Order: sequence, then C-alpha cells, then structure tokens
Amino acid sequence: MGLVHKEQPVGIFDSGIGGLTVAHAIRQMMPNESLIYFGDTAHLPYGDKSEAAIQAYSIRIADLLLSKGCKVIVMACNSASSAAYELLKEYVHKDVRIINVIDPMVDYVVEHYANKRIGLIGTKRTIQSGVYKRKIEESGRNITLCSMATPMLVPMIEEGYFNNRISHDIIEAYLSDPMLANIDALILGCTHYPLIRKEIAEFYQNRKDILDSSEVVAASLNTYLADNDLLNPHKGVMDHFMVSDFTESFEASTKLFFHEAVRLERHDLWA
Ligand code: DGL
Repeated sequence: MGLVHKEQPVGIFDSGIGGLTVAHAIRQMMPNESLIYFGDTAHLPYGDKSEAAIQAYSIRIADLLLSKGCKVIVMACNSASSAAYELLKEYVHKDVRIINVIDPMVDYVVEHYANKRIGLIGTKRTIQSGVYKRKIEESGRNITLCSMATPMLVPMIEEGYFNNRISHDIIEAYLSDPMLANIDALILGCTHYPLIRKEIAEFYQNRKDILDSSEVVAASLNTYLADNDLLNPHKGVMDHFMVSDFTESFEASTKLFFHEAVRLERHDLWA
C-alpha cells in the first residue's frame, strides 16, 4: 500500500445521495475527518443495473477519489458493494484500503446471532448477488438468512413517502411476506432504509432487532483508521460533496440523509 497520511480525506461513494446516511454516521463518530463524497446520480439507481455496469462506474469513481488524495475509500452502497467490491479491492489495493458496507454487517451478525433466523431486505442487485448469504453461511454459525428484494422502497423514500399512510402500506406488504416469517432480526441492506427504520421497527412492534449498517460501517472505519494510526488528530479542512448529475431536488434531499443541508458540486465522471 502506498504512503498515506492522517490528514488526507476519507472518500465515500454511493449511487446517489442515500450513502449520506453512512457519511453522517462517519461524521458523528469521527468529527475530525474531512469527507469527499461522490454520488453517481447520473447512473442512479444501481439496484437495477448489471454487475458489469456497476463495476465500470465504481472503478471510475475510485480513480476520482484517489486523484483527490483519499486515504481510504468507503463504498457506501450495498448494490455497489455486492457487485464491485472484489474487483475494486484488487484494483486499488496498492493505494488504499476499501471498506464496503456488507462485511462489517456480516461480522456483526455472525458475532451476535448464531443459530438465529435473520431477514435481509435490499435492492434487486444486492439480493440477487447472494453475497450476504454466502458470507454468512461461510461463518458456519448456523444462521438462516431469509432475503427479499424490496425495490419499491428506494423510489418511495426518494419521493418523500415515509412516515405516512402510503409508506406504511408498502412496508407492511413487503414485511408480511411469508419469506420473512419468524425472523429474529432484520438487516437493512440498503443505504436509504435508515429513513424508514422507525416504521419498520413499529411494524414488528419493536420486538425485533433492526440492523442498520451505517453505524457498524462507521465503527469498522474507525477501527481501521485507529489501528493504522490514520485518524486525523486535527479538525479536517472543508468537506466536498460531489454528484455526477445535479438537480435541485438532489440537493434538497441531502438534508434528509445527512441531517443537514449540503452544497452539491457537479463533477462529470466521464469528462
Ligand atoms: N445505494 C443503493 C443501495 O444501497 C440504493 C439506491 C440504488 O439502487 O442506487 O443499494
């Protein structure tokens, strides 16, 4: 791995602005770090794209984040993590560490839920990849994973439909599926879902654990930076939030995902 310094920024990317839920958890846990965020809004949603397309976009984004001097890259997107992590790890391993959103959650589940039945919801790409299932089964902890694609949830949230009657009905229709019957906990396998965590918990009458990866991913980043003496000891310089396609509605939605409004800079990935 090349020489990296504590003061260099943390690179984070997602298909769009949903990954800001992960960026927010990182900000809360490591306030000194400066963040360079890239949302590939021109190619959103990744959840319906082919593996090959997501791999091509991810390589391009990694090049951009490396050119900005990032000391680590966080793939803040489940669909990208399931389609492109192995390739990206191979591609940049000489330069920086890549952290995906799936492995920290798998480690958490393996540690806490041996012999249990765990539900997973996510995009079609994430569920079809079978990555969570394979990694959880490899642990040999007798955990049964019941996975289900819930593709209507991302557009629903992006259109602002949550905490209302429509979101309630859609969530209920998905979660009542027999495929998810008798689970002990549910993994939110998509960056957007933290926004409907409360509604999901209410569906289960607060009797099931709802596992949101943003916090475990931030904790995993924190451990990596601390172990390698890469935590920024000083308050970092300005953050940058870039997108491959700019609209006012993307900018307005940042507040929902990052808990504060941010200014989006447009950067053409293919320029
Ligand atoms: N960020 C994606 C994920 O976590 C959801 C949005 C999309 O499909 O692009 O899977």
